[in-house]
Amino acid sequence: MADTNSIQAFVEPYQIPGASAALNRNLAAMAESFAVTDDKVREIIAEFHRSMRAGLDKDDRDALPMIPTFVSRRPTGKETGHFLALDLGGTNLRVCQVELRGDTTYSLVQQKFTITQEAKESRLWDFIAECVGIFLEEHDLRPKPGRRTIPCGFTFSFPIFQTSIASGDLSMWNKGFTVPNSVGRDVVNLTQSAFQRHHVPVEVVAIVNDTVGTLMTSAYSFPDTQMGIIFGTGTNAAYWENLSAVGKWKGDRRGEMVVNLEWGAFDNATHVLPYTMHDNKLNRKSSNPGMQVYEKMISGLFLGEVARNAILALVDQRLLFAGRSSEILNKSYTFDTAYMSAIVADDSPGLDAVGTVLEATLELPPTDLVDRRAVQNVCRMIGTRGVRLSAAAMAAVLLSRPELLASPVSVGIDGSMYQFYPNFERDLYAVSRVFLGADFVDNRLKLHLAKDGSGVGAAIVAMTVEEERVAAAAAAATATAAAAA
Ligand code: BGC
Repeated sequence: MADTNSIQAFVEPYQIPGASAALNRNLAAMAESFAVTDDKVREIIAEFHRSMRAGLDKDDRDALPMIPTFVSRRPTGKETGHFLALDLGGTNLRVCQVELRGDTTYSLVQQKFTITQEAKESRLWDFIAECVGIFLEEHDLRPKPGRRTIPCGFTFSFPIFQTSIASGDLSMWNKGFTVPNSVGRDVVNLTQSAFQRHHVPVEVVAIVNDTVGTLMTSAYSFPDTQMGIIFGTGTNAAYWENLSAVGKWKGDRRGEMVVNLEWGAFDNATHVLPYTMHDNKLNRKSSNPGMQVYEKMISGLFLGEVARNAILALVDQRLLFAGRSSEILNKSYTFDTAYMSAIVADDSPGLDAVGTVLEATLELPPTDLVDRRAVQNVCRMIGTRGVRLSAAAMAAVLLSRPELLASPVSVGIDGSMYQFYPNFERDLYAVSRVFLGADFVDNRLKLHLAKDGSGVGAAIVAMTVEEERVAAAAAAATATAAAAA
């Protein structure tokens, strides 16, 4: 894209030669509403900084949550051992046995369970216990001699207000989960009770957000990691912050701690975000209207739905598919973000992949090249907005610690958008150059895929907790022996 500060640069590429004037007019208006110019990114970064500072100071509805995570030890890469980890994402539950090899590398054996709709709506805790039970049985895992339980790290991809490294109250559900009697309660307790009900001999010794897990995994291999990000079904980030800057932290203010931003909740009031009627439609009908508005503009669960809304707006004006939709397209969340990826990537002259999604998958009537091009353009506008907003958030966090930019910085990233959306990483670098400076981005910034990072990171944190427990027990034993002597 040429001059990313002019609206024209966001409008012209989406005009279709040979299309009707009405379609082009509508595409132009739509492109303008989805545009995120450089000035807009700067405005977002400034608001991010205000909101980060306010959230570090106190819990406030108008600020980012900025949750202290109780994780304050950086991994060295030398940690060794086998650890059990659970990773509850928006789509899957993974149960893993992680091996840290002590040479900055790791391996894992994992089993993936798709989270059923029933689990998302009601019996999640029992579902988790059942899956863990299956994993233990299939891998023949039991507590070590002398112990009643297997220690485990739990990655939990929903916002919790942590009260210790092994406890935290659920602040709300998102990503379509609505399990009752959970908000405000300690999720470790809820999990642990389910383990007891199902006779699963596991003890959660650490609970971490998936972004914290990703940060820790990346740091295990790249010690200069400053941030962990998820660009997946949902989106969020965690970073190292000096405790002296965390006004609301009641404990010792020396040293540093990982802070979970919960950036999906950024600007819920939409003061600065380029919020369109298509976002509004999605938001109003979602399970959490008015919440996670930023996440709804950039993450995998929602992008397809924004695109579906925008496409239907053109259909309803008889500008696409001769005004006809299909039963499938009429239903919410049928336009998967994976279809968007296939559509955006299609560079065949007849846009064959676009045709296949529209006609074979969505069962629309036969489409012509203008229909296909228009759908591709709508997807591209929404995808581009998503990447630019993603880059804005990452840049805002890095710029909040400007002293870091003088040295190499690694960022660990995981999630389906980062892995599968066409050119996501390339575009993230490109946009970052504008706001973080070409010198820093080209010479010192490294984005790493922290694959399966959330689970591995939980194992790393669980291991440090176990080490501390063992050390504390040894110290207590020495003290008792000394007192007895
Ligand atoms: C949750 C975060 C999580 C992110 C990525 C968001 O919906 O609120 O806690 O880190 O998704 O999975």
